[in-house]
Amino acid sequence: MNFELLKTELASLTRGLKEFVQYQRRLGLQQVEGALPGARPQSKPAPEQTRETPAVLSLEEIRQEMGDCRRCKLWRTRKNLVFGVGSPQARLMFIGEAPGEEEDHQGEPFVGAAGQLLNRMLGKLTLTREEIYITNVIKSRPPGNRNPDAEEIAACRPFLLKQIQAIRPHIIVTLGAVATHALLDTKAPLHRLRGNWQQWQGIPVMPTYHPSYLLRVPQERIKTWEDMQQVMARYRGQPD
Ligand code: URA
Repeated sequence: MNFELLKTELASLTRGLKEFVQYQRRLGLQQVEGALPGARPQSKPAPEQTRETPAVLSLEEIRQEMGDCRRCKLWRTRKNLVFGVGSPQARLMFIGEAPGEEEDHQGEPFVGAAGQLLNRMLGKLTLTREEIYITNVIKSRPPGNRNPDAEEIAACRPFLLKQIQAIRPHIIVTLGAVATHALLDTKAPLHRLRGNWQQWQGIPVMPTYHPSYLLRVPQERIKTWEDMQQVMARYRGQPD
C-alpha cells in the first residue's frame, strides 16, 4: 500500500470537508442530521442561525454564488454579468430592469443613455453613485433589450432579494414596471403604484418611472421628480 498517496488523499479529503462545513455554516447550518455516534454535540444554535433562516450573505458571497451564472438562457448571449455597484451600506437602493448594451459591455448598471439621465437626476438631488447602491432585477442582458421573461426573472430574483438583505437599505426605489412588479410581486399598473409608498419586508419602496421611458416621454419626468422629492424627504430625515 502506498502510504504517502493515502496521506495526501486523506489531507485533501479533510480540506474539502472543512471547506464544505464552513460554507454550510455561512449558510446557517449548525448541525448535520445523522451525525456520527459519539460525535460531540454542538452548542445550541442561536435562533437566528437555524437552517430555516439562513445567515445573510455578503455582497461578495452572493456574487460568488452566482459565479458564471447559467441559471437561465441569457448566459449564452451576455458579455458580462452585471451584478451591481455602490455602497454595501447604502441607505438608498435603486433597482432597474436589466442591463442594456453598454452595461453588458462595461459590466456596470446604468452606464448607457438611461444611466446618464439617472446620473443627472442624482446630481440634482446631490446624491452620488458611491453613497447609494444600484442594481437590476436581471443581471444578464436580454438580447436586443427585450423585456425579460418570467423564467429569467424567476432565476434572477433570489439574488436580488439576497442583495437587499445584505444591504438592508432604508429606502428602495424601483425604476419601471419590471422592477416594481418583480420586487413587489404585483401586476398593478405602474401609473397607479408610482408616487405611493409600498413595502418589501418592512423596507419602504417607492416605485417610479424608468429613465428609458423618461427619455422617450420627457413630459413625464416631472412625476419622477415628484416621487424623488418624497424619497429625499425620507432619506434626509433619517439619522445616519
Ligand atoms: N436599464 C436598466 O434597467 N438597467 C440598466 O442597467 C440600464 C438600462
